[in-house]
Amino acid sequence: MLLNVITGNTGKEKESRFNGCAFVVVTDYNEEMLTVLITGANRGLGLEFVRQYLATGWRVHATCRNIDDAVELKMLRGQFKHLHLHELELTDFSQIDKLAKNLSQHPLDLLINNAGIFGPKPIAEKDFRQKFTHLDYQIWSDLFTVNTMVPVKMSEAFIENIRSGDEKKIVTISSIVGSIADGEKGLIGYPSSKAAVNMAMATLAHELREENIIVNAVNPGWVKTDMGGNSAPLEIIDSIQQLRALFENLSLEQSGLFLDYDGNIIPW
Ligand SMILES: NC(=O)c1ccc[n+]([C@@H]2O[C@H](COP(=O)([O-])OP(=O)(O)OC[C@H]3O[C@@H](n4cnc5c(N)ncnc54)[C@H](OP(=O)(O)O)[C@@H]3O)[C@@H](O)[C@H]2O)c1
Repeated sequence: MLLNVITGNTGKEKESRFNGCAFVVVTDYNEEMLTVLITGANRGLGLEFVRQYLATGWRVHATCRNIDDAVELKMLRGQFKHLHLHELELTDFSQIDKLAKNLSQHPLDLLINNAGIFGPKPIAEKDFRQKFTHLDYQIWSDLFTVNTMVPVKMSEAFIENIRSGDEKKIVTISSIVGSIADGEKGLIGYPSSKAAVNMAMATLAHELREENIIVNAVNPGWVKTDMGGNSAPLEIIDSIQQLRALFENLSLEQSGLFLDYDGNIIPW
């Protein structure tokens, strides 16, 4: 059989390929196994994070709102014994607390706050409720809940798991539009929710630096997902490959920065 085992930079990852395709290998390296928790894992960037971390030998805790509907995740669970699925409506903070309690004995190397919502789209949907003079304040509040408060709540709920992990990393998938300096201006709701989560992550980085915990907000690029749409220039697989490489090499010196998927610093 054409099976190659490639050892990653950390020496803890193992990726296998069969005739050039990512291939499932479940081997006994539990002691060395790294663990990641990913929110919004049933589609888009979250699902690809799950696929790639599993393929490189990680234990993955994946959350989604409805496991019954998460067809791809259920298929992956059939292939990978180190995939654990958890049902989680992120706006219900009692559910977050409950999951944290259930996982309290499980160290986490990496928490990826990936889940997010964009809200109404003025161009694609001709819906202007995120624009000045048309603002729907409930929608803006929902954007803040999911995009800003949930990543902070998840970080609070799972901080003990991160403390007991080896890698000690928290990353929140933000967006370039959250950059006041560089972001495109036009909408109020989504960009302000991402600017606010950037501030929150910079604050967490400051709070946790002494414990060697690395915290970053990152921009995944403009990616072909339900949110990004078909005109997006980046394929999901490429964005996630670059983000994984970025996360793997993150240092404490970089903690608190807002980083692009290629590692460049994005100005606030
Ligand atoms: N795609 C891009 O071009 C782009 C660019 C910049 C930043 N981002 C950011 O990247 C992240 C992932 O985006 P994506 O493109 O993969 O988006 P997506 O395809 O729309 O997927 C969003 C994910 O978040 C989950 N989610 C939303 N609200 C939730 C809630 N209340 N509780 C639990 N899960 C919830 C969704 O679950 P359901 O399936 O149940 O709705 C889904 O799994 C987001 O934070 C987004 O803002 C994306």
